Amino acid sequence: MEIIIQPDGEAASRIGARLIAGQVRRKPDSVFGLATGRSPVPLYDELARMHRDEGLDFARIRTFNLDEFVALPPEHPASYHAFMKAHLFDRINVPAAGIHIPDGAAPDVEGTCRAYEEEIRACGGIDIQVLGLGSDGHIGFNEPTSSLASRTRIKTLTERTRRDNAAAFGGPERVPHHVLTMGVGTIMESRACLLLAFGRKKAKAVAAAAEGPVTAMVPASVLQMHPRAILLLDEEAASALTRTDYYRWVYDHKPDWQKY
Ligand code: GLP
Repeated sequence: MEIIIQPDGEAASRIGARLIAGQVRRKPDSVFGLATGRSPVPLYDELARMHRDEGLDFARIRTFNLDEFVALPPEHPASYHAFMKAHLFDRINVPAAGIHIPDGAAPDVEGTCRAYEEEIRACGGIDIQVLGLGSDGHIGFNEPTSSLASRTRIKTLTERTRRDNAAAFGGPERVPHHVLTMGVGTIMESRACLLLAFGRKKAKAVAAAAEGPVTAMVPASVLQMHPRAILLLDEEAASALTRTDYYRWVYDHKPDWQKY
């Protein structure tokens, strides 16, 4: 794992945006896995700025979102479809045909999940997967005890995650119980993972994911087995890690050819 600690979420997100921009320039038809939640918002803001001010061209990219609530139509304001439109897709030039988000409203749940996996494969796999981190250590909506080999499927949210998502729905009791999510195994097949975590609320989950044992109780800990997992953190999210001096030294002394 590469652990990068920055003074705040904006600075960390600028590094993430540079990584994504580099990938788009090297391979214009790159495939990105995308996340929702508050964490990737500054990243999406910076990508939108790069598109507007620097002409960063997203015309050929393909995107796959991690997850969506079951039975929520795409037009629902709390849906991840609506979130992605507002925070990224309406602000860059990605064509609608390149965008994929699990269809939470689909009647055939199993068929939809299978088809999603097939679409990812048909696009050649995901080059960079953007991830947030649940306060209980989940990635996507893979709650603790999710199989570390799981594929896209239906999952039941924990009460804690429903509480964490309450604001968008106007109360925890309105948050759906079920979601469709890429599996941990699906995420692990991406060629690089970029996990963003900011704020004190994430400190415990970050420490467990990066320095704890690999366990299905903390699904993000499986990233320790990924050949290219980068954690972009602010000071608060990094505050429960034990090796911060080492992580900072490593980042500050990267050879020039390795800098982002
Ligand atoms: C939801 C999403 C996750 C996200 C998590 C954390 O559970 N499905 O992908 O990582 O929220 O959200 P936030 O970034 O708002 O803390």
